[in-house]
Amino acid sequence: MISLKPKHLLSISDLTLEEIEALLDRGDYWAHKPNRDLSCSPKLDRNPIICNLFFEASTRTRFSFEVAAKRLGYYVLNFHPFNSSVQKGETLYDSIKTLEAMGVSVAVIRTPEEQGLEEIAQNTKVSIINAGDGSNQHPSQALLDLLTLRQHFGRIDGLRIAIIGDIKHSRVAQSNIGALGLFDTKILLSGPPQLLPDRKHLPKHTEIVSVDEAIENADVVMMLRVQKERHLGSLALDNYLEHYGLNKQRALRMPKHAMIMHPAPFNRGIEIDGDLVEGPRSLIYCQVSNGIAIRMAILENIISSQNA
Ligand code: CP
Repeated sequence: MISLKPKHLLSISDLTLEEIEALLDRGDYWAHKPNRDLSCSPKLDRNPIICNLFFEASTRTRFSFEVAAKRLGYYVLNFHPFNSSVQKGETLYDSIKTLEAMGVSVAVIRTPEEQGLEEIAQNTKVSIINAGDGSNQHPSQALLDLLTLRQHFGRIDGLRIAIIGDIKHSRVAQSNIGALGLFDTKILLSGPPQLLPDRKHLPKHTEIVSVDEAIENADVVMMLRVQKERHLGSLALDNYLEHYGLNKQRALRMPKHAMIMHPAPFNRGIEIDGDLVEGPRSLIYCQVSNGIAIRMAILENIISSQNA
């Protein structure tokens, strides 16, 4: 097992290519261990305590960190903002310092704020994992996506990945664009013009193309959720599936070997036809399963870097 240099995971850019590859190797190891087999966890002198603090809704990320921690033999606390002292005005920083005093080792945080985690991380012994901060970063999602790609295609280098939809508001897209840029990949970005990033700031492995061009030329079509909660009602969704979504007609134009991904939750009938979600070309539930494996790899590496 490698030891991650940073004891926090705030952004995919915290990791080198070597560290990402080592996490994928370890994630793959856990992905192939049966769920019931807890004896594969090393005997622990001290069971680390992990605390989930989610200030935005989550199903996959929160539960997979919990399952991952439990499979490793760690204790798990779930901090609920709505019945914690946040209601009395306590800040996230003060909540983390309180958990630090109780011996919590890792805080997994999801927040609508795009700034602030770095400053907290610099001032606590608790390792901070960014589980999604506004439209900024979602590094563990990018790692599970890489693991899914590597498992299915046997490699990441050489892949052409279409990322389609609400790119502007997507922390998943930001993290994936960063992670895939460390490999020899080409990213085809597409979606409604108002939801695309500024062409002037595009990394060189990315290109903006039409939805049909993206779909016809990609090994993987990664659809993104329309983040209705971040649009303030300004986006018309009536014809979204026809113009920008992955409907059945468009899916027929994908290369024969190409696969579908989506970080989920998905809006069936808006960015993706519901039947495609569970169709034979979908890797969506593999992504979910890999979320546990990769988060086991992340947690055990962060704990081992604390002990180093
Ligand atoms: N993909 C993802 O982050 O899902 P949740 O919002 O359910 O955690």
